[in-house]
Amino acid sequence: MPSKAATTALKNFSDMAVHLAARQADHLMRSRLQLQSAQSITPTVDGQRLLSFCSNDYLGLANHPAIAQAMKEGIDQYGVGSGSSHLVSGHHREHELLEQELAAFTGREAALVFSSGYMANVGVMSALMSRRDTIVQDRLNHASLIDGALLSQAKMLRFRHNDMAHLRRQLGLAMGKKLVVSDGVFSMDGDCAPLLDVSRLCAEHAAWLLVDDAHGIGVLGPHGSGLVNAVGLTSADVPLLVGTLGKAFGTSGAFVAGDKTTIDYLLQTARPYIYTTATPPALAAATRMALTLVHGADAERAHLQTLIGHLRQGVRHLGYQLMPSATAIQPILVGANEAALQLSAQLRARGLLVTAIRPPTVPVNTARLRVTLSASHSLAQVDQLLNALADVT
Ligand SMILES: Cc1ncc(COP(=O)(O)O)c(C=O)c1O
Repeated sequence: MPSKAATTALKNFSDMAVHLAARQADHLMRSRLQLQSAQSITPTVDGQRLLSFCSNDYLGLANHPAIAQAMKEGIDQYGVGSGSSHLVSGHHREHELLEQELAAFTGREAALVFSSGYMANVGVMSALMSRRDTIVQDRLNHASLIDGALLSQAKMLRFRHNDMAHLRRQLGLAMGKKLVVSDGVFSMDGDCAPLLDVSRLCAEHAAWLLVDDAHGIGVLGPHGSGLVNAVGLTSADVPLLVGTLGKAFGTSGAFVAGDKTTIDYLLQTARPYIYTTATPPALAAATRMALTLVHGADAERAHLQTLIGHLRQGVRHLGYQLMPSATAIQPILVGANEAALQLSAQLRARGLLVTAIRPPTVPVNTARLRVTLSASHSLAQVDQLLNALADVT
């Protein structure tokens, strides 16, 4: 259990040192790695070239030459900064085209591009919900969805992870407008929300549904159009579809897609969209190229599935505890914070980068190695990870 000092908010500014010491004692201190190369499956970290299994660059696009070229050409044509917010003079034709293309890609009428997934979630939820309303969310939803609910001031009810009976009960307690919110693919567990059941319950209770498909977009569904499309849910079933661009797309930013009225309303009211400088037009140009590549990456997605099967079989054989995930996120459950850090350090000593994820990002006593696979990995590289895991047991 983390100590009280490590988990509670500061009462006094002078408590900061106490809080940090408690974090250290509980093995909860977070630190940053320093990359000295491009993001890839073999980054140079603190001077050492490693084989990485911990980025969200699922299709290996973060340093793709065609995307880099599109960004360079964008800079040559449009310069670096957008210079202003979207509603003043920062909105560029490249942003507009990207929004149209993302809408077509997801099969929605319209889309709005935000600077990040965090801002998209906070913006959408705070624009649509108020203190008279209720947001019902999965317990394991991403922090940005929790923060969006807090900012909206709506009543927040949580339901146990993927527990539809509990969701039904919570919906029965909801007042005002009702919004159910779920990750599509859960970011720290890798499993998928049972979206058909969630959507059915929403229809029964006249609730709207927001799916944050940050880890499904680009990876799942026809042409990588995401989990929502993979299970055949329309804009009527999922009026708010959020996708991020910093993961499978390899660039940065996020979008919300939906019907035209909803997107028009968000354009007028979503404060994290309105009150911030627009992203560089060259980034939008790069993301448009990424979208073309994502659309055509069926072979990469098939390869990723092969890698997932191979990894799961090997890890299970070694006796580690996997989680019920069929996606590129394949956490190995460890439990104690210190043990997770130790395992990560032992792998690092063997040239492998797999980060330990600890509370509060995941529940107490469920520290884990969050292994993520990329279509850039080869089967031999997955074997390298398996051999290292065998070596450290
Ligand atoms: C489920 C989920 N939603 C939203 C985000 C935030 O996206 P961004 O990194 O673009 O802010 C993340 C990860 O960062 C995520 O995992």
